[in-house]
This record gives sequence, C-alpha cells and structure tokens, in this order.
Amino acid sequence: MKILITGGAGFIGSHVVRLMVNTYPEYEIYNLDALTYAGNLENLKDIEDQPNYHFVKGDINDAAAIDALFAAHGFEKVIHLAAESHVDRSIKDPLAFVKTNVMGTLNLLNACRESWKDDFNGKLFYHISTDEVYGTLGEDGLFTEETSYDPNSPYSASKASSDHFVRAYGETYGLPYIISNCSNNYGPNQFPEKLIPLFINNCIEEKPLPVYGDGNYTRDWLFVIDHARAIDTILHNGSLKETYNIGGFNEWKNLDLVKLLCKQMDEKLGRRTGSCETLITYVKDRPGHDKRYAIDASKINSELGWEPSVTFEEGLSKTIDWYLANTVWLNHVTSGDYKKYYEQQYS
Ligand code: NAD
Ligand code: DAU
Repeated sequence: MKILITGGAGFIGSHVVRLMVNTYPEYEIYNLDALTYAGNLENLKDIEDQPNYHFVKGDINDAAAIDALFAAHGFEKVIHLAAESHVDRSIKDPLAFVKTNVMGTLNLLNACRESWKDDFNGKLFYHISTDEVYGTLGEDGLFTEETSYDPNSPYSASKASSDHFVRAYGETYGLPYIISNCSNNYGPNQFPEKLIPLFINNCIEEKPLPVYGDGNYTRDWLFVIDHARAIDTILHNGSLKETYNIGGFNEWKNLDLVKLLCKQMDEKLGRRTGSCETLITYVKDRPGHDKRYAIDASKINSELGWEPSVTFEEGLSKTIDWYLANTVWLNHVTSGDYKKYYEQQYS
C-alpha cells in the first residue's frame, strides 16, 4: 500500500510518519512537506534511511506539482496533516491560512478525484482536523461529533472550511473520506510557539512565561503519540464518511497547567521549588480567545477501542525530558526567524 502523508515533517506528522514506517514495513510511506518554518527533517532522523520511507519536498499550494506526484505514484491513501497550525499567526496573517489550509486541501482533493476516478475501492482521503472548528464551550458540556461548527479564529475558520470541502467532495463526487477532530496535542518535537514547548524553553532560559489574559482558559490535552495511535486506528478501522473526535479526557486551566509544568521544571533543573513560577507574567489576551475546549471521545473509544496510553503528568514529564535532552534541536529551531516572531508577538 502506498500512503501519502502531508505535513510529515511537522510536529504531529513526524510522529505519524514514524509510527507508520516502523509498524508497517510492507507499506510505502511518502512524506510530502514544504518545510515551512514548522517543518523540520531533524524530526525524522531516526527513520530517514528506512527502505519504505520517501521524502518529497513540495507545496500543496502547487496544484500542478501535486497532480504530477499522484500521476507518478498512484497513492491509495492520503493522510492530510499539512497546514498552517498556529492561532496567533493566523490573527496576523489570515490569508496564508486560507491559501494552505483551504486551497491546498482542495488541490489534494482534486488530485485524489482525478487519480481515483476509475475506482474508489480501497482508496481513502483521511483529513486531520481540530476541535477548534466547534468554537468555544461554556463551563459545561463537551464537543461531540454532532456539535455545530462555530469557528472563532482565522485558523479555525480555515480548518472548518477545509472540513466542509472534504465532506462536500464525499457527497458530490463520492470521494471516500474520513475526518478526525482532535484536541490540543503536546509532546516531543512541537515547535516552541505553542504553549507547552514555549514555556519549557522560557523556563530553561529563565525568561518570562507570558500567560494570556487571566489564564482561566481551558484546553483538553493529548500526548502526541496517542494522537498518532488514534490516526493509525482510524486509518485501518474507521468507517467512511464518519467523523471521529479525539481527546485526552484531560481538561486543564492554562494557569494550573503552567504551575504543574513549573513544578516539574524546577525538579528536573534542580532549581529551588517555586522558582520557575516566579517567571509567570500576565500579558494582553489573544483576540477572540476561545474559553474552553473539551472533547467527548466516547465514539472512537467505544467503536474502535482507542484510549490514551499515558496520564498527563507522565506525558508532560516525558515531554520535558525530551526537550532537556534535545537542546541542539531546540537551539536550531529558536535561532533566526523565531527570534523575529518572538519579538513581534511578545514585545
Ligand atoms: P505543524 O505546524 O507542526 O506542522 C505542519 C507541517 O505542515 C509542517 O511540517 C509544514 O512544513 C507543513 N506545511 C505547511 N504548509 C505546507 C504546504 N503549503 N505544503 C506542504 N506542507 C506544508 O502542525 P501540527 O501541530 O503538527 O498539526 C498538524 C495537523 O494537525 C494540522 O492540520 C493541524 O490543524 C492539526 N491539528 C493540530 C493539533 C495540535 O494541537 N497541534 C490538534 C488538532 C489538529
Ligand atoms: O485544540 C487544538 C488546537 O490546539 C490545534 O488545532 C492548534 O493547531 C494548536 O495550535 C492548539 O491551539 P491553541 O490555540 O489552543 O494552542 P496554543 O498552544 O497556542 O495555546 C494554548 C492555550 O494557551 C490557549 O488558551 C492560549 C494560551 N497561551 C498560548 C501561548 C502561545 C498563552 O497563555 N500564552 C502563550 O504564549
């Protein structure tokens, strides 16, 4: 089986590529990635020489190149992760998100439609999406697969739009698809613009920990390897035209999470208890900041038998250990353009 994974050099994509390459030596895994600021081949060093792994540098916005790639390889399945993924960047430059997340997804859908037109049997377009398409929750309730879409940021609006196009291609052209909507991921290899790796890096460097607003925003956190396991499960056992919500059953208010992270950082860095917490600094809130996300993952749990494999405390500890052991990786990604981004976002 030939599988195209888009965005495989990014955070979640690299864990999905590794899991597929190692678990299924009989599959040919093609990783298509444009290597934007978020894409990093260092994430895949350990598997780059495996005979069933192939890297293709390419942009999903380039329709002609995508069509040529499909014509050359005849992929049977696509796992589509390539995207602009950071909410704060989407607030500064919405168009970049429309281009890649909406138009890029359309280019892939068109290539699949053309390549598979004679026989949809055994084919699958698996679209990786987010719980942010559902908007925000109040104090109670959970996002289910039936929750209406209500996106609030340019990022979530672009992901919602791409989800709608995937579904529309299924209804209109019969394209076989599945969508999964996952909650906040954390773990090794996450670019330090997102809350957890940014705060780990700032604790190491003894820089302020910029908490947006009052810190009373809630997210549902999932260890990235558990997300990759869920994607594997859905790829092999999910039903066509279905949506699966994936989450950690693990809600944390940002401030509580940051305090736990600070406690673990103090212990691991051998610092006095409470010293990282003194770095917490309240900064201007994110515009349109969603109050609370929480996923009802009972469908994937009861129908496909998936559940998270680690507790948050274990996952966070493993994540911090990874960043402390991979300072070369961290130094590479925080040099150059990262410094400019950081200045603009937090000055
Ligand atoms: P990421 O930003 O770490 O990685 C994105 C990858 O896509 C990078 O390797 C980048 O080079 C590549 N890419 C970007 N634009 C491209 C283009 N035009 N052509 C080809 N490649 C391109 O993102 P992530 O956090 O790993 O998220 C991956 C997917 O999962 C996204 O679709 C995101 O919406 C979704 N998702 C993320 C989370 C999360 O918590 N991070 C949760 C749920 C869903
Ligand atoms: O829910 C899934 C989504 O989770 C994914 O679709 C997105 O790709 C991913 O980026 C993530 O979005 P969030 O906006 O929730 O993640 P982020 O890490 O940017 O922020 C998490 C929370 O922490 C959020 O309430 C904002 C807050 N925050 C974030 C940063 C970067 C801060 O307080 N300070 C910060 O500096």
